[in-house]
Amino acid sequence: MTSNNYNSSLFESISNDIVDKGYSIQPYALPENLAMLLMQHITELSKEKFKRAGIGRAKEHAINDFVRMDEISWITSNSEANSAWIKWAASLQIFLNRRLFLGLFSFESHFSHYTKGDFYKKHKDAFKGEENRVLSVVVYLNESWSHSDGGELIIYDNQLLASSVTDNKIVTVMPSFGTIVVFLSEEFPHEVLPAKRDRYSIAGWFRLNNSSVNKIDPPS
Ligand code: OGA
Ligand code: MN
Repeated sequence: MTSNNYNSSLFESISNDIVDKGYSIQPYALPENLAMLLMQHITELSKEKFKRAGIGRAKEHAINDFVRMDEISWITSNSEANSAWIKWAASLQIFLNRRLFLGLFSFESHFSHYTKGDFYKKHKDAFKGEENRVLSVVVYLNESWSHSDGGELIIYDNQLLASSVTDNKIVTVMPSFGTIVVFLSEEFPHEVLPAKRDRYSIAGWFRLNNSSVNKIDPPS
């Protein structure tokens, strides 16, 4: 699969940021036709398709209101929008593997829906030696988001995690339509502040192939 020119300069910029800082914020950068398709699709997804989010992959749905309150729906290629998204992620994966030799092997992603008051407390998407999520990608599907709508993503500095005195925020991101956030999964704790209106995002993870580590890697 090849990425078109538009994506090439975007992917180039993401790639450079990952090398320089370990994360990349790209405001309004998702190709507009893709963002529109996804937004239409997510608003049509029935309420039943969203499930209360559990903490931890492959665990029993340990629903934990203290940590996260959003609802999620895993993405498979069962619609034009989802297929276009998966294709876009695959082209990013190919680009990053060529450029950074990351060895990204697979991709998993879900829609998230935060209703008024929902949040996701500070967490990491992967822990060294435990999971094989390497790179996190989040995109936002909310039109005309403003500061008073809350729901910002805050990314923290991993180094200072232990400190309770210093403010170790690196960056605050508004969940505005088409904004893309990419970061190294093991390096950056992050949180979602309470949203004051419906907030839609996609969270995805590029993973390494675990088979070479200690076991054949089924999608558990
Ligand atoms: C996640 C996550 C961030 C967001 O689902 O793990 O951190 O802004 N989402 O929706
Ligand atoms: Mn996360």
